Amino acid sequence: MCRYIFEQENIIMSNRKSLHGNWSSRTAFILAVTGSAVGLGNIWKFPYITGENGGGAFVLVYLVCVFAVGLPILMSEILMGRRGRRNPVKTMELLGEEEGNSKHWKWLGLWGIVAGFLILSFYSVIAGWALAYVFKSGSGALAGVSAETISSTFGAHLGDWKSLLFWHTFFMLVTAFIVGRGVQRGLEKAVQFLMPALFILLLVLLLYSMNTGHFMDGVKYLFEPDFDKLSPNSWIIAMGHAFFTLSVGMGAIMAYGAYLPQDTSIGTTAVAVVFADTLIALLAGLVIFPIVIANGLDGGSGPGLIFETLPVAFSQMPFGTLFATLFFILLSFAALTSAIGLIEPALAWIIESFKWSRIKAAAVASIIVWVLGLGTVFSFNLWSGEEYQFFGKTVFDNIDYFASNIMLPLGGMFISIFAGWVMCRVSTSDELGFGTDWRYTSWVWLSRIVAPLAVLFVMLAKFGVIKP
Ligand code: PHE
Repeated sequence: MCRYIFEQENIIMSNRKSLHGNWSSRTAFILAVTGSAVGLGNIWKFPYITGENGGGAFVLVYLVCVFAVGLPILMSEILMGRRGRRNPVKTMELLGEEEGNSKHWKWLGLWGIVAGFLILSFYSVIAGWALAYVFKSGSGALAGVSAETISSTFGAHLGDWKSLLFWHTFFMLVTAFIVGRGVQRGLEKAVQFLMPALFILLLVLLLYSMNTGHFMDGVKYLFEPDFDKLSPNSWIIAMGHAFFTLSVGMGAIMAYGAYLPQDTSIGTTAVAVVFADTLIALLAGLVIFPIVIANGLDGGSGPGLIFETLPVAFSQMPFGTLFATLFFILLSFAALTSAIGLIEPALAWIIESFKWSRIKAAAVASIIVWVLGLGTVFSFNLWSGEEYQFFGKTVFDNIDYFASNIMLPLGGMFISIFAGWVMCRVSTSDELGFGTDWRYTSWVWLSRIVAPLAVLFVMLAKFGVIKP
C-alpha cells in the first residue's frame, strides 16, 4: 500500500526525466498511441471474432469492456509510464519501491514483455498476409472474379508455407530496421499521414457496403444483441480483445507514456485514443458484414474473413484494383505501427539493462519473435492437422488465445490494482491533473474495483468456477 512517508518526496520525483527524450507534442503522442492501438486488431480481428461469437451481444460486451475496463487501464499505464520514465520493467521496479515498498512489481513488467513477444509472433505472420495481398491485388489477379475464386485464392495462399514464411520474415526485417534506428521521428511522421488515409479509405468502403442492399442487415447483425449466442468463452474473448485493441496490459503504452511531456492531460488523451480506436473497429465491422450477407459468405469463417470479403467489394467497384492495393498497403502500415508498440518495451528494457546498442537489441529481439512466429506460419498448412493441435486448437490459436485473452487481462488487472491501490493518491492525482473532482473519483473506483473484478469474474467464469 501507499507509503505515506514518500508522499512529500513524490512531488519532486514526478520531475524525473526520460532517458530517450520526449514526444514533440501532445498530438505526436496521441498519434503514436493511436498508431499502436489501431492495427490488425481493429480491421482483421474484430470483425472475425464478432462473426465467430454471434454479433450484437458480443459487440456490446466488447464496448463495455473497452470503456469501463480498457480506458481506466490505459490512463493508468500512461500515468505510470510518465511517473517512472524508464522501460516498463524498471518503471515497475522504481514505482513499486517508491509507492509500495516492494521490488517485485518488476515481474509485471517482464510478464508484459513476454506477452509482447508472443503477440508479435503471430501478428507478424498476419501482417505478412496483408503484404502479400498488396501484390495479389496490385497484379489485378483479384479483379472481377467471383467470391468463390477469392476464397479459394486465400485458401491456396494459406497452404503455401514458403510464401507465409517469406512475408513474415520481410515484416520482421522492416520492424527490426525501424525500431533499430529509433522510432520517434519516423514513427510520428508516418502515423500522422497514414492513419487519416486509412480512415478515409474505410469511408470509401463504407459507401460501397451501403450500396450492397444489405447495409441494414449488417447494422442489425452488429448492434442487435442476442445474449443466447454468448458463451462464457465469448466473454473472455471480448474482454481479451478490449485489451488487445487498446494495446494495454503489456507495457506498450507505459513505454510510450515515459516520453510524454509533464503538462499533457492524460485523461483527454486517453479518451481521444479510445474513441478513435473504437470508431475504426466499428467502421470495419460496418464495411464487412453487409458484404458477407450480400454475398452469402460465412461471417464466422475465422481469421480469413477480411481477406475473403474485402476483395469481393474491391473487385466490383470502379478503380477497385487501385483501392485494394492502397488498402492493403495502409493495413500493413497500421500493423507496422502496432508491431513497434509490441516490441518497444522489450527493446527499452534490453538497452537499459544490458547496455546493448539499439541495433543489437532490435536484432536479437526480432530473431526471437521470428522463431516463435514459425509456429503460426505452420499452423495454416504443415501443422494444421489434428495431430499438431493442443486443446483442439492450432499453435496460432493457442498463442493468440493465451497471450491476448489471458496474459493481457491479467497484466491489466495488476496494473490497475497497482495504480488504484498501491500508488499514493497524491501521486496519481498529481499525474492525472484532475485534482479530486468526479473524473478522478471515477478513475479511482474503476481502477480499484471495476476493472480488477471484471477481469477476475471473466476468468473465473471461463474456468467454470462461477456460472454467469
Ligand atoms: N492494438 C493493436 C491492434 O489492435 C495490437 C497491439 C497489442 C499493439 C498490444 C501493441 C500492444 O492491432
